[in-house]
Amino acid sequence: MQIRLLRAGDEPAVLTLWDRCMGEQFPLDSALFEQNVLRDAHFDPEAVWVAEDNGGNLLAYAHAKVCREPLGSAGMMPEQGWIGALAFLPNEEGLQAARLLLQTALEWLKAKGRKRVNYGSDPAHFFPGVPTEQTLHQQLLREAGFTIGEHVAVDLVRELADYRVPEEVEANLQRLHEEYAIRSCTPDDVPALLRFLQQEFPGRWYYETAKRLEVEDTPRDILILTHGDEVVGFCHTFHRGSKRIGPSIYWRKLLGEAYGGLGPIGLAGSTRGKGLGLALLCKGVEYVKQQGAQRMAIDWTDLVDFYGKIGFRVWKRYHPASRRI
Ligand SMILES: CC(C)(COP(=O)(O)OP(=O)(O)OC[C@H]1O[C@@H](n2cnc3c(N)ncnc32)[C@H](O)[C@@H]1OP(=O)(O)O)[C@@H](O)C(=O)NCCC(=O)NCCS
Repeated sequence: MQIRLLRAGDEPAVLTLWDRCMGEQFPLDSALFEQNVLRDAHFDPEAVWVAEDNGGNLLAYAHAKVCREPLGSAGMMPEQGWIGALAFLPNEEGLQAARLLLQTALEWLKAKGRKRVNYGSDPAHFFPGVPTEQTLHQQLLREAGFTIGEHVAVDLVRELADYRVPEEVEANLQRLHEEYAIRSCTPDDVPALLRFLQQEFPGRWYYETAKRLEVEDTPRDILILTHGDEVVGFCHTFHRGSKRIGPSIYWRKLLGEAYGGLGPIGLAGSTRGKGLGLALLCKGVEYVKQQGAQRMAIDWTDLVDFYGKIGFRVWKRYHPASRRI
């Protein structure tokens, strides 16, 4: 068995390996692999490894990340490192290779001066944590010194055929319409949107929104809640036309051709509790449906009851996995 850095031309074999490891639950394609790994701002070609047998067949894959540009106000997170994904053949050889890659990744992160490592939740993450059903991953992570937390973060899903904005939500919006409005973000709104995010969600949500705006042709898939000239809420939506493959549509192959997604969503602290968060969510889902989606997901949340109000149900579950080095 040999461990080496990923080389140009390895991608098809990595995708095949990933597919054999977890393709049914997390089907990876080259567009997403390139976005989240090879073209991500935090990608380091020295931190992406494969293990292969003597015949050159891939047995395992892993990549690690450290911040290479500030995540908004969270900055460079100099003590934090991540292992972004681990894929391996589901046999003894594959497990052995995965163990070696985990050690390789941990050593690299240690050499980078990292004090804490998480599995998943990295910038341009694939996973918020370790998926609940990935018991072999959990076993490998535990063996490598990780603690798997009890807390569960979830992705949610909903069919859209029967979806309509509930009447009481429309009525609430009507009641508040002189003060508040919900609409698509226009290029002219972008400075106010970024000001709002810097004020209310200055870390990763600010960072990810700014990054998304760099690649999309238009900001219209971000819905905004406005109060006069001010932006006081935001909601990312995704669909087939989106350039950025947002986390809610990572696993779009499972959602079907007419896929959609939503999140993050957030309101200014002072605006919460008036039914406007629910209204923005409902209008976001309506917008996604209007773009042709028939099935959509909401990623990485623990607000099951909030999204459950309009029929979203749990789809995927993840546990936090971390260790100190
Ligand atoms: C989550 C958020 C968008 C909700 O907006 P809001 O304006 O505070 O909530 P609303 O007033 O629209 O609430 C509507 C309903 O949802 C419920 N709800 C609101 N927040 C909830 C939460 N965190 N968990 C469970 N239910 C919630 C309310 O109790 C209310 O229920 P009711 O109609 O039965 O009384 C807002 O609180 C927010 O921006 N939070 C910080 C960012 C965040 O956590 N975003 C979601 C990340 S996945």
